[in-house]
Amino acid sequence: MKGIIKEETIEKIRNTCDLVDLVSRYLPLKKTGSNYTGLCPFHSEKTPSFTVSDTKQLFHCFGCGQGGDIFTFIMKIENLSFVEAVKFLGDLYGIPIEEGSKTDDKLEAEKKLIYEINREAARFYYYNLINSREPLNYLKQRGIGRKIIKEFGLGYAPNKWDSILNFLKGKGYKIEDIEKTGLIGRRKDNTGFYDKFRNRIIFPILDTRGRIIGFGGRVLDNTMPKYLNSQDTLVFNKGNNLYGLNLVKKYSDRKRIILVEGYMDVISLYNHGINYSVASLGTAFTKSQAKLLKRFGQDVYICYDSDNAGINATIRTINILRSEGIEPRIILLPQGKDPDDFIKEKGLEGFEGLIDSAMNHIDYRILINRKKYNLSDVEEKIKFTKKVSQIIRELKSPIEKDVYIDKISRDTGISKEAIQKEVLGKNIKANISSYKDKYINGKYRDNKNKIAPIKTVLESAHLTAEKTLVKLMTINREYYNIIKSRLYPKDFLNYECNTMVNIIYDAYERNQELDSIDSEYIIKNLETKNDIDSIIIDEIIGMNVDFLSETKII
Ligand code: CTP
Ligand code: MN
Repeated sequence: MKGIIKEETIEKIRNTCDLVDLVSRYLPLKKTGSNYTGLCPFHSEKTPSFTVSDTKQLFHCFGCGQGGDIFTFIMKIENLSFVEAVKFLGDLYGIPIEEGSKTDDKLEAEKKLIYEINREAARFYYYNLINSREPLNYLKQRGIGRKIIKEFGLGYAPNKWDSILNFLKGKGYKIEDIEKTGLIGRRKDNTGFYDKFRNRIIFPILDTRGRIIGFGGRVLDNTMPKYLNSQDTLVFNKGNNLYGLNLVKKYSDRKRIILVEGYMDVISLYNHGINYSVASLGTAFTKSQAKLLKRFGQDVYICYDSDNAGINATIRTINILRSEGIEPRIILLPQGKDPDDFIKEKGLEGFEGLIDSAMNHIDYRILINRKKYNLSDVEEKIKFTKKVSQIIRELKSPIEKDVYIDKISRDTGISKEAIQKEVLGKNIKANISSYKDKYINGKYRDNKNKIAPIKTVLESAHLTAEKTLVKLMTINREYYNIIKSRLYPKDFLNYECNTMVNIIYDAYERNQELDSIDSEYIIKNLETKNDIDSIIIDEIIGMNVDFLSETKII
């Protein structure tokens, strides 16, 4: 029908639009605890009682009682109908509005029927499980009792070729409709259909609206394949859903969410009191799953198996999450354990201990590389340092960069300056010139005392000391005499400082009249222009060392 906006469009807008961002376009918000607050736009007030929850994507005013989601907010503030609000947001976020038609109605009906058949099937599997000793024993031996079976709607597919087929047919469903659920397959010789899940524990997969979209099935022994999953159907797209998300939505406070590898991990964590874990569905983690996660947990943790496959998957997932703006932490498991094994052995407290000591992804990636290379071998050490420099380069904060550079310098014995250069790489000029534009050539030039320049890279105390000494020597000969009596040029470890000191010592030795050395003098005396970055000279020349005489250090 024309005029009815497609469900997919509404979902897309919901996944793209961020309520905090949206509300901020209308009123200033302040972060208070885990929420944002501001003055309510819907009634007049002096103290903020308008609250926006980032994780829940809902707003509420404790003053006037108004509340809702992105659509309600726009309806109220722009005075629009629901359809108009959807169009408004579609425009704002560049999402094309697709309206429904007759064929969509047919499609919707088809999907509805799949959900319905899936639900009937899940019921069948569930009753089968609670009446079958062997699978019940299997679950019991894995620590899973009645309560968990019910919560997750676990089931059992009998060891027969036609049990779900006959059950669903008996319920009156047409074979072509049953086929659309993926629960049955067509025989190769085209003589009929067979059950895909046989003699397996069944894990129904629910979306966040509680609809059954597909199934996973595990064997009771070591037969291969261990797990079988429903094929993608009209209602099931493995890359767009996460196992366990329905329960996270229902129970969790959404502060954190843990991404694990398997169905059994989610169930076992839940069994021990962790109601905020989800698993991807037997396929690699996707961008669209990252978008989902973002809405259900403030802090995202990855807890994959500690084997090689798990490590590679972790690195991949880190990259995907970061491309969606999530900075995940990584929970490290002991060798050979998965979350299920671990929490069974060490309990909730043990697992919470692991969460507390989870690593940020930079530390994790450095650790993984640290294990890959042998640092007592020179070539491997170089490779390691280059690799890690690439990782550090991704950090936005200069303070964080410096902390890691310092750490790697201590680990490898390579100087901080060298690693700094490797980290900045080709960007060094760009960084320095933007720094210069802002603070030296920019509008703050005549206002130096008020605006303290922020250094692009924090320096170690020793570099500052070297620069200060160089600066002092350029002021007058007296400083040179004091410094010369205590230090040789080779005592200056920083390459730039060392080069300058050589020029300065040389100048004072040769030219008795020389009283002050300026940047031009130093640059003129460099063997090649590329020898040194003139910015550093400018920096040293521009240094303020008045505080040294004030505090009578010199
Ligand atoms: N998986 C799959 N097909 C397989 C093996 C695994 O789809 N043949 C998926 C399943 O979603 C499974 C996840 O990968 O949950 C993790 O697999 P694995 O680590 O092998 O299993 P566990 O979760 O440890 O399962 P269990 O503890 O039951 O052995
Ligand atoms: Mn396992």
